[in-house]
Amino acid sequence: MTAYQADLAAAQELFRITPLQPSLGAEIADIDLSQPLDEATRGALHAALLHYRVLFFRGQELSREQHIAFGANFGELEVHPVFSLPDYPQILPLISAEFVGKYRASTDANWHADTTFRPEPSAASVLLARVSPPLGGDTVFANAVAAYDTLSDEVKERIDGLTAIHDPSVFIQFLDSEEKKDALRAQYPEVEHPVVRVHPETGEKVLYVNSVFTRRIKDWDKAESDALLALLFNQVKRPEFQVRWSWRPGSIAFWDNRATQHYAVPDYNEPRHMERVTIVGDRPRGISSAL
Ligand code: SIN
Repeated sequence: MTAYQADLAAAQELFRITPLQPSLGAEIADIDLSQPLDEATRGALHAALLHYRVLFFRGQELSREQHIAFGANFGELEVHPVFSLPDYPQILPLISAEFVGKYRASTDANWHADTTFRPEPSAASVLLARVSPPLGGDTVFANAVAAYDTLSDEVKERIDGLTAIHDPSVFIQFLDSEEKKDALRAQYPEVEHPVVRVHPETGEKVLYVNSVFTRRIKDWDKAESDALLALLFNQVKRPEFQVRWSWRPGSIAFWDNRATQHYAVPDYNEPRHMERVTIVGDRPRGISSAL
């Protein structure tokens, strides 16, 4: 038995695990995330995260300090370049009060893995609901390993060695001065990632382009690049690769950002206030490319 298998077996003993869909997602009960984790619990959660790709918890009324402490069990925490709380820079607030009373137009450009505009995109994220609408505002998660696996052999052959360009230009609209916009562009110029990433811990192949941060296929003309990306962006939208999570205050989703994408469903008219801590990842490696 490998250490990973032992940790996964321990997880079944330590918590109540309820898988939510065949492809990904499990709810974990009988754990209090406000408390420091011992090494066995930390290892078991890490193994469960690799196995189920996204873990869900209810009733976790964490303080901001406890949220940060929980995330820090799994690695160094990021500070987001655009959104962070002044007193808690590791916390990214997602507050949607400005949408109250307006129906937010649904957009395709919402499926993403976090921070792929970074040279070393996030390894994992821990999202906590502080205020949730009584109805709506769910988040859908997709298994990007299954999304790759089920592509045709012909498409896999086309994309296995390709490189894509990512950038954070989607955030420019939130910056209120040219100086801030220039600073973001200077801090995060376009970055190259393999279109198919090899997961650094499981060795699985992952479809690693997303509709928020991926701009184009490197060295391809625009029409060809747009057509291929449209096909690949569509692949994560298949319901059989997904799990959908309805939030209540104190609910948490903890996802492996290297193996999943997610979509925040914009169908609500009441306040929604989420806070995220995000764990630093590593440089994505492709199947055979130098990346
Ligand atoms: C995120 O993209 O990290 C937030 C998703 C959500 O608000 O549901």
